[in-house]
Amino acid sequence: KMRKKIVAGNWKMNMNLQDGIALAKELNETLTAEKPNCGVIICTPFIHLASIAQLLDQDVIGLGAENCADKEKGAYTGEVSAEMVKSTGAQYVILGHSERRGYYGETPEILKEKVLLALKNGLKVIFCIGESLEEREANKQNEVVKAELEGSVFNLSAEEFKNIIIAYEPIWAIGTGKTATAEQAEEIHAYIRSVVAEHYGEAVADDTTILYGGSCKASNAPELFAKPDIDGGLIGGASLKAADFKGIIDAW
Ligand code: G3H
Repeated sequence: KMRKKIVAGNWKMNMNLQDGIALAKELNETLTAEKPNCGVIICTPFIHLASIAQLLDQDVIGLGAENCADKEKGAYTGEVSAEMVKSTGAQYVILGHSERRGYYGETPEILKEKVLLALKNGLKVIFCIGESLEEREANKQNEVVKAELEGSVFNLSAEEFKNIIIAYEPIWAIGTGKTATAEQAEEIHAYIRSVVAEHYGEAVADDTTILYGGSCKASNAPELFAKPDIDGGLIGGASLKAADFKGIIDAW
């Protein structure tokens, strides 16, 4: 695979500031000593970003947020803008995670705004898509992921789309210990790439990194990463301990 391989951690709402700094330091020491065979990114709560940006060698480990606002600035109490995220030194932002869609009512239209603001402020976007168990059982996974792409990122120009990393995460596999089989994951990754090719052409589709997320760990990563259309992982639970996360990075 010529396109960029990536292992990205999504800490979600875990780690207080001190514990987060300690984990970032440990990862930084381990991965700068022994350079990984893939791109590595950690996405942390907003409050960690500025401190971690100070200590991280971002040539080795990129830093990202887990969300940003759908408004540029102003009277939106409690929100954090894409520009603020960028100003911490972070370079990435996760958008469209199923937890944001499901628990915080983020619609395709809201996500479209967030994506545009993130790109405008020079952030790369890890854009999450994926079906629920009900949708999978009704065999609707393909139409769901296609609609999610059409609803929030296919408005971008091909040039802008180069800053999008797609993360396919079947909701039924997130935090449940149930991983999609490597075959199931490959099948839909190939479909996602075909949809990108239909919209932007083969060359762009070949360059698009598509990550798998959902109970990915060191034990199942090698099988997943061996598939032609799986370019790495978006890791939740197993990104919270340096040894577990490193185990997945070493699967490349
Ligand atoms: O963003 C990460 C995913 O939601 C996967 O989470 O690895 O804990 O299943 P998990």
